[in-house]
Amino acid sequence: MPEKDFAPIENDYAFFMAHATEAESDIAAYQRELNGFLREHPSLRLLDFGCGNGDFSAPLLNALNLPPETLHLTLCEPVTHQLTQAAERVARFSQHSVETLEHLSAAQDQQFDLILSNHVLYYVHDLVHTIGEMRRALQPEGKLAFAIANSDNTIIEFWKAGFALIDQPVPYYMSEDVQQALAEAGFDVQKSEAKFQLRFPDTEENRMKILRFCFGHHLEAIPLPQLVGQFDPYSQDGTIVIDTYSDHLVAERKSEN
Ligand SMILES: C[S@@+](CC[C@H](N)C(=O)[O-])C[C@H]1O[C@@H](n2cnc3c(N)ncnc32)[C@H](O)[C@@H]1O
Repeated sequence: MPEKDFAPIENDYAFFMAHATEAESDIAAYQRELNGFLREHPSLRLLDFGCGNGDFSAPLLNALNLPPETLHLTLCEPVTHQLTQAAERVARFSQHSVETLEHLSAAQDQQFDLILSNHVLYYVHDLVHTIGEMRRALQPEGKLAFAIANSDNTIIEFWKAGFALIDQPVPYYMSEDVQQALAEAGFDVQKSEAKFQLRFPDTEENRMKILRFCFGHHLEAIPLPQLVGQFDPYSQDGTIVIDTYSDHLVAERKSEN
C-alpha cells in the first residue's frame, strides 16, 4: 500500500486538528487506558510513532504529567522538518535528550515500554511488517497504544465514497486491519471508543481543506463535485457538523502459558 506524504497537506491537517475535538478526546482516552500502567513504571521509554509536528504529542505529554527525570522519549516521523519541530516541542517533558528516527527500522536494539501511535497506521506501507517491527522494539511487558478509525467512522465513509468514484478500494488501513494484524502477531487487545466532533464554517474552500487532508495526491484523480457534495448531509445553518468516533486499541503480548 502507498504511504501518504503529509508535507504537502500539513496546513490542511492543521485545519482539521483546529476544528475537531479529536485530539482532546484521544488524550482523555489514553489517560484512562494508560494511567495504571504509567504509574507502575518508575522510568518509561516511550516511542511516539508518526508524531507529525508534535501538535498532538505535546498536549498529550502535558496531560500525562510524567516526572521529566523518568521519561525517555523517542519520536519517529518521516517528514523531517516536522520531526525536528516535534522534538523541540516535547523537549521540556524529559530531562533526557529526545531521540529522533525517520523510520522505525532505525530503532535497532531499542526496547520501549510503550509505543504510542495516534492516527498513523492507516498510512504505513506494510501493516504486518510494521506491527512486527513494533513487537521487536517492545520490551516483553510493554504496551502498544493506538488511535485509529474503523470502517464506520464518517471520515472513512468519505474515503470509501471518494475511492468508489474512481473504482478503487481505499488504499489505507483501518482499525479492523490493525486488530487482525495484532492478533496474528500474538497480542491481546483491549478496544474502546473515543467520540469527537468535526465542526467548521461551511465554505467550499473549507470542504476542500478536509478533502485534501483525507485524500492527499489521490484527490487529483477523483471527480470533485460529487466528492464535495458528500458534506451536504452534514451542513446545518452554514456549519458542517460531523459527530463520529475512533477506536483505541491497547495491546500487550499474550502470556505464554
Ligand atoms: C494523521 S497524522 C497524525 C500525526 C500525530 N500523530 C497526531 O496525532 O497529530 C499521520 C502522521 O503519520 C506520519 N506517517 C505516515 N507514514 C508513516 C510511517 N510509515 N511511519 C511513521 N509515520 C508515518 C505522517 O507523516 C503524519 O505525520
